[in-house]
Amino acid sequence: MCGIVGYIGKQKASPILLEGLKRLEYRGYDSAGLTVHQNARLETVKKTGRVDHLVRAVDGQSLSGRLGISHTRWATHGSVTDANAHPHLSSDGRISIVHNGVIENHRNIKRFLVAQGYSFCSETDSEVLANLISYHYEKETARDQTRFVESVRKALKHIEGTFGIAVLCAECPDQLLGARRGSPLIVGIGDGEYLLASDVAAVISRTQNVVYLKDNEIVALCPDNFSISTINLEDVDPIVSRIDWSIDEVELGAHPHFMEKEIFEQPTALENSMRGRFAADGSTANFGGLNLSPQEWRQVDRLLFCACGTAWHACLVAEYLIERYARIPVEVEYASEFRYRNAPLEKNTLVFVISQSGETIDTLAALREAQRKGFRTLAITNVVGSTIAREADGGIYQHVGPEIGVASTKAFTSQILLSAMVALYLGRLRDMSYTDGVGLAEALKGVPALVDRILRENGHIQEIARRYSGYEDMLFLGRQSMFPIALEGALKLKEISYIHAEGYPAAEMKHGPIALISDRCPSVFLAPQTETFHKVLANIQEIKARNGKVIAVASESAPFPEGLADDRIVLPDAHEALHPILATIPVQLLSYYIAVERGLDVDKPRNLAKSVTVE
Ligand code: AGP
Ligand code: GLU
Repeated sequence: MCGIVGYIGKQKASPILLEGLKRLEYRGYDSAGLTVHQNARLETVKKTGRVDHLVRAVDGQSLSGRLGISHTRWATHGSVTDANAHPHLSSDGRISIVHNGVIENHRNIKRFLVAQGYSFCSETDSEVLANLISYHYEKETARDQTRFVESVRKALKHIEGTFGIAVLCAECPDQLLGARRGSPLIVGIGDGEYLLASDVAAVISRTQNVVYLKDNEIVALCPDNFSISTINLEDVDPIVSRIDWSIDEVELGAHPHFMEKEIFEQPTALENSMRGRFAADGSTANFGGLNLSPQEWRQVDRLLFCACGTAWHACLVAEYLIERYARIPVEVEYASEFRYRNAPLEKNTLVFVISQSGETIDTLAALREAQRKGFRTLAITNVVGSTIAREADGGIYQHVGPEIGVASTKAFTSQILLSAMVALYLGRLRDMSYTDGVGLAEALKGVPALVDRILRENGHIQEIARRYSGYEDMLFLGRQSMFPIALEGALKLKEISYIHAEGYPAAEMKHGPIALISDRCPSVFLAPQTETFHKVLANIQEIKARNGKVIAVASESAPFPEGLADDRIVLPDAHEALHPILATIPVQLLSYYIAVERGLDVDKPRNLAKSVTVE
């Protein structure tokens, strides 16, 4: 949540900050603001609404400073107002701060600061940091360059909660400070300039060299050098990494929305996820970063998958695939529940987390909780260098390129594909025969072409979407591995179309949700050709008997009775392990086109943000 961009260098800061904010807008879009250090003053402009509002507000102001910080907000404390927008200034005007996270003890700190004579003008938790840093700055005995950094260090020692911050001091024209605990922050090393940002999308147009800060680290950036230390005063040797994403990947190109771009990128994205990951004998998968020998894998009796949102749906698919093809018991937990549940885990359990961003706070906390209990952890993540990727004991990068649309699409299908490859790998370590291994591997290699076919041959989904865009309720139903896809279809529709939708196992519908069925609540059935296909047909009949409209997503050569569904979307015939990926494509397109038809902001749905870094 929330995007931070800071700049120190030779260029005018404000255009660079605004460009960075535009690229980070998917992290939060309640309000945006910036502070530029200029003539020993902190000039601040902030506005509710999108970055474009801020651009207009900044236009015409003579902001020529070469040092600045900026923020797009996803509000946690305090409503969406100009006053609550970041940056926040200390009441003496000396310190400006942008903050990502939640300061849990903000009330106590505020009480203390008010007693010291500081005043507050927002309802946010973040504002206390500006005043607290100013309080310590005032008391600090050092009078040189270290005064500012020491005051930040002392302030942060009192903070309970999470933060990624960028800070300016009116009296320090050559210093930009950043720090993190729980919220991501990176340093971009440019040509004669440095940037601070919540993620690489903000810096990629200026540099590919970055340092990922770790929790409890403070970075001090000056025009021609920088240093990192911990809150406890230890020096840190920075490790510079190279970003392998290109600028084109964070731009829309000819597409109207990132979501559409990312849906149509799936054939390539899936190809990239698989690249170099099949063994030479063609019967199994190969992963470089699991850091586990086959002998160690054989000690694993059970897998626990944890994630949030769409990634949690990917975990449910992983459960089907791994139990079916590797015959290893799998459990799936919401990361937010697992982290506080203190669940008893059997001793030979391995904990797998899935997270596109690698920064989701609950997933990170679940990972840390599992590690604290001594379990080995693995992660499937897309963002290289993200906190989860760094902290897990091993992992698999998705390599699907940046996902900017708030609604996850290509990351989801890639997570399923990689889970299927894990199932293949683990299956081959156990009871899967060479022939079955080759069969599954060959099927998986064919996924990109099949997805491409679905994308090319289903132009009529747009027309179906137009006809269903006026409904306010919808059900998504499927059996076995189609159940998580039903959940995902419902989530996609909810988040971008604001249509109330529910996903259910098709047979479960009779135990309650069928009461919703009427001519005002259509159902989407995910019904590829499997052993339960005829059972699903019976469930469709039950809906039709109650005047419910039905869109059926069914395999090409399945004996689907003519006229049974109101609308039909055809899937190519394929190996059963591929059904979850293939069936996902039509539900993504359906929700995308419905949202477009309803005239909604597909890439930035209300109340949401791409990366959920607060609890
Ligand atoms: C997906 O469409 C969502 N907006 C959301 O559920 C997302 O999948 C979830 O927040 C998890 O994110 P992560 O994969 O980055 O951890
Ligand atoms: N808690 C802060 C606020 O509500 C920061 C939220 C964020 O991470 O965007 O302003």
